[in-house]
Amino acid sequence: MDSQPVFIGMDLGTFKTSVVSSNGTRDSLFSAVGWPKDHVARAILGRDVVFGTDVVEKRLALKVCRPFERGALKYLDSSESGVAEEKVAEHIEAARLLIKHAVELTRPKSGAPVFGVIGAPSRASIINKKFIMDVASDAFDAVVIAPEPFTVAYGMNALTDALVIDIGAGTIDICPLYSTYPTDEDQVTVPLGGDFVDEAFMRLMGEQFPEAELSTNIAREIKEKYGFVHDIDEKAVAMLDVKARPTEFDVSGPLKEACLTLVEPIIEGLREVISRFDPEFRRAMLSNIILAGGGSQLNGLDRLIEQSLEAYGGGKVSKVGDSVFAGAAGALKLAMSMPADQWDQFRLQTQSQSTELADAA
Ligand SMILES: Nc1ncnc2c1ncn2[C@@H]1O[C@H](COP(=O)(O)OP(=O)(O)OP(=O)(O)O)[C@@H](O)[C@H]1O
Ligand SMILES: [Mg+2]
Repeated sequence: MDSQPVFIGMDLGTFKTSVVSSNGTRDSLFSAVGWPKDHVARAILGRDVVFGTDVVEKRLALKVCRPFERGALKYLDSSESGVAEEKVAEHIEAARLLIKHAVELTRPKSGAPVFGVIGAPSRASIINKKFIMDVASDAFDAVVIAPEPFTVAYGMNALTDALVIDIGAGTIDICPLYSTYPTDEDQVTVPLGGDFVDEAFMRLMGEQFPEAELSTNIAREIKEKYGFVHDIDEKAVAMLDVKARPTEFDVSGPLKEACLTLVEPIIEGLREVISRFDPEFRRAMLSNIILAGGGSQLNGLDRLIEQSLEAYGGGKVSKVGDSVFAGAAGALKLAMSMPADQWDQFRLQTQSQSTELADAA
């Protein structure tokens, strides 16, 4: 007989994957996989596959794949995208290894069935959900996919009259909660996110300080440390190389301008979502807006959104307490709240077909 099941909540992001287990462990890693480029790299690294920060630190010796990065899922159907079949196989393999490794990081008890809820981008297409199910079925005995903003809301008990805005690396997903399971049509995905801010910041820096050497990783680190959208007196000062010599730059102007590029599209997305509801529901939803995802941490974003909503009768915006684990923790709570017979049913379905939580509701 099986021992007690282990439940896992996973937030599968373009940039980061976070995982939380009912056995009390949790972890977070880059959504990337690295393979040694040649036998020398293999011998030095001592591994066939590399995960986590090693993918960034050892990247010169690796072939790196980010299986869920923007546009990567178009590889899924090589006949439509015209992409080589090895590329398709590489993405599928990377996704499979990443999910398996994330589950292993939680050290599930051997022999125990592993049941999981994976939070995935809210409007992930049917083919993407099927793909996630397929690659996850290796690591889980039963698994279901739920929209990531929904798992955040579930974790916070905010299932009635609330709006979750999940600001990730690749997309901003806006999801209304009104006491029922949100449909794909309820949600809006804005095709912008942290990656877009990094690109804008690099472009603006290039215009203002063409001599400063700035890589995407450094741009992202500066944004994560100093990113802001409000009026401040203090300055964001970064050390950047000029011809290999570290030099101080006041990056406040380009950084703020880059971060601000997200605000208008968020307000526009919110407007689109709430316009589908009656005015009294709109009021209630706008007074409980929750910012989630890494981008929620931009300084001043909550207040600026509140100010922008004054034209719509005002709103109240809060941030999740833990932007890294909120989605995964909500997915775990959802997994643990499902009855055992429901899991038995998912278990039968997992090996054969795509299962969405909505199908079971
Ligand atoms: N303190 C911070 N301030 C601003 N941005 C941040 C901060 N911390 C992380 N980010 C940004 O948040 C983004 C990653 O967020 P998150 O981990 O929620 O993305 P994801 O879930 O992997 O992506 P997606 O939801 O689009 O698939 C990155 O662009 C990262 O630079
Ligand atoms: Mg995300």
